[in-house]
Order: sequence, then structure tokens, then C-alpha cells
Amino acid sequence: MPLAYEHKRQQVQTIFDRIAARYDFLNRVISFHFDTLWRKKAIQALALSDPSPLVLDLGSGTGDLALTAANQLTGARIVGLDFSLPMLQLAMKKKQRVPSGDRIFFILGSALAPPLKSDAFDAVMTAFVLRNIGDLKLFFHNAYRLLRPGGKLVSLDMFPPRRFPFSFFYSFYFYRAVPWIGALLAQDRKAYQYLSHSVKTFDPPESIAELIRETGFQEVKMEKFLRGAVCLHLGEKPRTLP
Ligand SMILES: C[S@@+](CC[C@H](N)C(=O)[O-])C[C@H]1O[C@@H](n2cnc3c(N)ncnc32)[C@H](O)[C@@H]1O
Repeated sequence: MPLAYEHKRQQVQTIFDRIAARYDFLNRVISFHFDTLWRKKAIQALALSDPSPLVLDLGSGTGDLALTAANQLTGARIVGLDFSLPMLQLAMKKKQRVPSGDRIFFILGSALAPPLKSDAFDAVMTAFVLRNIGDLKLFFHNAYRLLRPGGKLVSLDMFPPRRFPFSFFYSFYFYRAVPWIGALLAQDRKAYQYLSHSVKTFDPPESIAELIRETGFQEVKMEKFLRGAVCLHLGEKPRTLP
């Protein structure tokens, strides 16, 4: 792995290990609870027809996306993968509190080298993970490899909005206020400074759509929320492979 990617991996893992205990609470505060709505929309966008699909959640964290999927897709089995043990420990506790939790399985591992079988999943989903990945090409390549032909990818993430005046107010809130909210409520200004920085410097959603296409996905679509501050990407692995 190139040194820059390895450095980012270590930095990201350390941050999530550190903020795990306050992660869910801060998410709700910073997004005014919209994060839960966007996760639901991402799962709906998959429009899975199989009544008992096998779904993979890459960068599962404290399990919010996996839990939402288990709740919305009543026959689904969900595998959640993350490299932060403290985040996954919280996910394990949360899944034990809900009846659908027995259909969720968490594994510790890297999304860039997932220890999972190729062509195995009906859907791969990921939420708020892309900005934390050094090698996005490899990330999408793995998602593609793990999907069965015809399987679907959905990704949800934050992007820097471009249109004035929303971009102006967003910059003030997300790049200036959020690190202070992190300092106040999670006693970790640096971690939330990283969060702001990762959004500010992230690629435009169109480039991500292009990368998904270049990986081999077809039917690539985008849906924007909150004037492009959050964007959902969809793609499908071709049924007949070239
Ligand atoms: C912002 S959190 C998102 C968690 C969850 N998906 C959600 O919707 O709340 C990003 C998660 O991705 C994980 N992550 C980042 N890079 C990863 C990698 N290369 N392999 C596995 N997990 C990774 C982090 O540990 C963290 O739990």
C-alpha cells in the first residue's frame, strides 16, 4: 500500500476508535437527525426484489445503516464490515437490542481487502465512508467483486455544496461551527476538524459517479439531498459480464 494511503488509513482508524462512544450522538446533533432519513432513502433506492437478499455494509461503524436495512428489508441478512473495533463493539450492542439484530453479522476487517467471497452479495451499501478512503478505485473494485452479477451498489456521502448562498451558510456551519460542536460535545475538536476537512476537500459527486462507472458498474445514478451537501450514488453490476 502506498505510504500516503497507509498514513490516511491509520489516521482514520485512530479517529473512529477515539470518537466511537460519542459518534451516534454527534451525528444526530450535527445533521439535525437528517442522517437517519438519508440512510432510509439509500436502502429504498436499492429497490431489491429478492425477498431474502444478502447485503454487505462497507464501513458499518456503529451499525446504523445495517440496522436500518435489517428493519426495512424484513428477510435480508446483513453483513457489516469495519476496521474500527470500538465502533463495531457498539454496533454489536445495538443489534442485540432489536429483534431484527439476529440477521446482522459484523466482521472486523478492511474495506480495501475484505475477507469475503466474490459474487456473493445481492447489494453492497456504504454510508459516510468514501471520504475516509485513500484508494477509492480499490474500494469500488472490491464492492464490484463482491456483488453477484446484477447486484446493486448504493453509496451515501457528504460533498461540498457549490451553489451560493447555500454554500456560504454551509461553509460557516460545517467548516467552522462543527469542529467546535465536536470539541464541546465529544471533547475532540481535532476529530471533527478532520470531518469538516474531509468534506471540504472531497471530490465532486460527478467524479465519484464517473469512478463508479469506470469500475464497470452500469445504470449509475445520483440523487442529491440538501442542495448537494449529501449525495447518493447507485450502480449495478452487469448481469452478463464482458
Ligand atoms: C463516518 S463512519 C460511518 C459509519 C456508518 N456507515 C454510518 O452510516 O454511520 C465511517 C466508518 O468507516 C470506517 N472505515 C473507514 N475506512 C475503512 C476501511 N478502509 N475499512 C473498513 N472500515 C473503514 C470507519 O472505521 C468508520 O466506522
